[in-house]
Amino acid sequence: MSASHYDNSSQISAKLIGKNIMLGITGGIAAYKSADLTRRLQEAGADVRIVMTAAATEFVTPLTFHALSGHPVFIDNDDHDETAAMQHIELARWADAIIVAPASANTIAKLAHARADNLLTTTCLASEAIKCFAPAMNKVMWQDPGTQSNCRTLTDKGWLQLGPASGLQACGETGAGRMLEVCDIQKALEQCFESGELQGLNLVITAGPTYEAIDPVRFIGNRSSGRMGYAIAQAAQEAGANITLISGPSQLTPPASLRFISIESAAEMKQAVFDHLSDCNIYISAAAVADYRVAQVAEQKIKKSADSLTLSLVKNEDILSQVAALTEKDPQRPYVVGFAAETEDIIENAREKLQRKNLDMIVANDVSADKNPAAGTPAIGFDSEYNTLHVLTAGENSGKNSNGKLFATARKTQLARQLISFIAEQYKQRRLNEKNTA
Ligand code: CTP
Repeated sequence: MSASHYDNSSQISAKLIGKNIMLGITGGIAAYKSADLTRRLQEAGADVRIVMTAAATEFVTPLTFHALSGHPVFIDNDDHDETAAMQHIELARWADAIIVAPASANTIAKLAHARADNLLTTTCLASEAIKCFAPAMNKVMWQDPGTQSNCRTLTDKGWLQLGPASGLQACGETGAGRMLEVCDIQKALEQCFESGELQGLNLVITAGPTYEAIDPVRFIGNRSSGRMGYAIAQAAQEAGANITLISGPSQLTPPASLRFISIESAAEMKQAVFDHLSDCNIYISAAAVADYRVAQVAEQKIKKSADSLTLSLVKNEDILSQVAALTEKDPQRPYVVGFAAETEDIIENAREKLQRKNLDMIVANDVSADKNPAAGTPAIGFDSEYNTLHVLTAGENSGKNSNGKLFATARKTQLARQLISFIAEQYKQRRLNEKNTA
């Protein structure tokens, strides 16, 4: 099959599509506005799960949020039996972002002091997701030095404070303390997914498996799902880069607003990569490219007449090595990031590949990992939503005694954001060094 592609870069960017957002609702009259927030986030393409404190359920029923989000609502009382006790860990890992809106003075105080006395505060404490809070309270409570200091503590810990707004309050007073308008909360949340760290840079990213044809109906493939590469493309786009995503066969929907090129074989992938390298600043090779292809692809379906069948295979060209071997001109050598899927001696093998292929960075992952790990530990690697990464860069971090940088087990979407941030930092450092030595 020939390479096909479409360019959907002219579409309106939809930053919340596919994002997992946990909306925490605490006790306050502004809780009714969270119903509208839930609807808006859903309409923007996010998957929304609601956690309500007991006080919040006094203002709006969980049924309202169940109907709007399409999922049962988590409330504190669920957290009694043993299975439910894991909820906070699962939710904490699931969320790309947590927004507490409205955030009462009491919950802000608890979050500031790392209290974990209900499902909402426990989940927040256990999560590494992006975290935001939208304070909503009476103006005197808002002005209280204790509340002000708690908000500062929270923002120092990395929480994003949204509002409050000023105006007429439910208690009849006028002043600061109203929950920020729902459309402004949504906008702020969208901005959380745009770091701008790769603003204006051009990235070529490969993802997924390649299929090497045996005959018109059969192929040799591998277990790669494309998840890691697609998540990296999404994260790089959120960081402001222009993306060309070249993908082998995958069940996934490509992120919106990027140039997407669909290929099947390693040879097609190589062609597509080299067609798009001019002006490429960073090349990320996340694809599981087949090392070998069938020497003679049968023109017709092979019949099972013989008792045994021998396929003769020939080596595919190494796309990554060829990109890394580019000299300064036409096309210029980009910053090159390779992946290493390993089943043993992960760091050693990755270090060897980094050097042999002349890469700037290598991202190693263990694909031998136990598919049925202990309770609470997710399976990682191919075909899983989770991964663990070890990253080595050319230079000091890849020295003999270095284990590189570890990105602990997390959802591939979250790891992709951390990785993109690290790549952006390393790329800028490289350019700075080049400037200084020029
Ligand atoms: N790669 C590539 N072209 C190939 C084979 C691999 O561009 N023909 C890239 C992959 O996308 C990945 C890196 O090379 O970024 C390492 O791939 P991996 O399969 O781990 O290593 P190989 O070089 O194939 O070596 P081996 O299979 O012996 O481990």
